[in-house]
Amino acid sequence: MEPTDVHAEGLDRVVVARTAISMVDGEAGRLVLAGRAVEDLAGVRFEAIVSRLWRAAAGPRPDPHAIVPAGLDETSLRTALGAARRRAATRLGDGGAWLQLPVAMDAVRGAVALLHDDTPALDVVATVAVATAWWIAARRGVALPPPDGARDHASDLLRMITGEAAPAPAAALARYLVTVSDHGMNASTFAARVVTSTGADPVSAVVAALGALKGPLHGGAPGPVLDMLDAVGEPARAHAWLQAQLDAGHRIMGMGHRIYRVRDPRAAALEQAITSLEPGAGASRGGAARLALARAVEREATALLAARHPERPLAANVEFYTAVLLDALELPREAFTAIFACGRVAGWLAHVEEQRRCGRLVRPQSQYVGD
Ligand code: COA
Repeated sequence: MEPTDVHAEGLDRVVVARTAISMVDGEAGRLVLAGRAVEDLAGVRFEAIVSRLWRAAAGPRPDPHAIVPAGLDETSLRTALGAARRRAATRLGDGGAWLQLPVAMDAVRGAVALLHDDTPALDVVATVAVATAWWIAARRGVALPPPDGARDHASDLLRMITGEAAPAPAAALARYLVTVSDHGMNASTFAARVVTSTGADPVSAVVAALGALKGPLHGGAPGPVLDMLDAVGEPARAHAWLQAQLDAGHRIMGMGHRIYRVRDPRAAALEQAITSLEPGAGASRGGAARLALARAVEREATALLAARHPERPLAANVEFYTAVLLDALELPREAFTAIFACGRVAGWLAHVEEQRRCGRLVRPQSQYVGD
């Protein structure tokens, strides 16, 4: 059979799956997660969105061999996930070689890679969170924090990383994890689906997804966004600094998106989460002044990019305000991508289930241009 499109570099506009998990409308700037618009998810706990995503993935007649527990409501999922975090800590013991790796994503990938291939989905979610918190603790040279299975996932993750979890910051982290829990056929989700399509296990799929998320063009941008804010320093310097970056041929991190032609709706959700924190939150990182700086940089970057690419609207993406929010929560920037994975792993596992049910090997073609 003749290939349909030999020039789809980056698979732009190629639809590779039918999904009930999430919908991204890049023209209108809309994101729907298992039937709910992202802007309506303020106050929703991570457990609630996991329950919805996994139900959507399993479909109306869940298969008894489904890899995600589709029948758990928010309350039972919270109890089960708390127990899974405890099991994850027991399994991870006192760490291992993975804990010493200098890059957070490598450490988390290493911890997940050690799981047996029949590890339940909740234990995979729990392992990503505990491994992330433990890597941060190991870097700081403090004791590895035991999980508190009675808390909700976001609150426990925040407590394990920062030592405390007041209600407003915990709710802001929950908003973040919910906001990034799934996003159509992004690169890491596609990686998970490709691996699943070969008949490989969910742990292998999540390891592949972690590898894809590490890249700066996907989940690795928020750390560099903060570096940029630090380098700019104050709103008045934004224009000249950004101009120099663009003149030197560099990309502005946190700006632009493969799918969105308008501002990423997740940027608004996260900006709102930042403003929901008490005025003193993140004071050690600049607090309200940092948010004002971020807004000024976004304004300037949007204008400069519009002048350079009038044909292609380039606006703030999720990573821009991820950086500001996670920084205000006093989370370390070198672990931002791993914290992203703590949320996205729910979506990956939903897609693993959906792909498993589809059962078709993903096997595109290439056009030979060699000798
Ligand atoms: N800064 C400067 N220029 C950018 C840009 C950015 N952030 N994003 C895109 N462009 C430029 C491209 O270089 C390209 O220019 P060219 O035609 O002169 O080569 C043009 O805009 C069109 O880009 P496009 O092909 O539509 O972008 P893409 O789909 O290949 O890239 C991203 C999408 C996300 C990879 C890209 O916008 C980017 O690198 N952003 C910064 C990293 C980031 O924030 N990643 C997180 C994504 S959620």
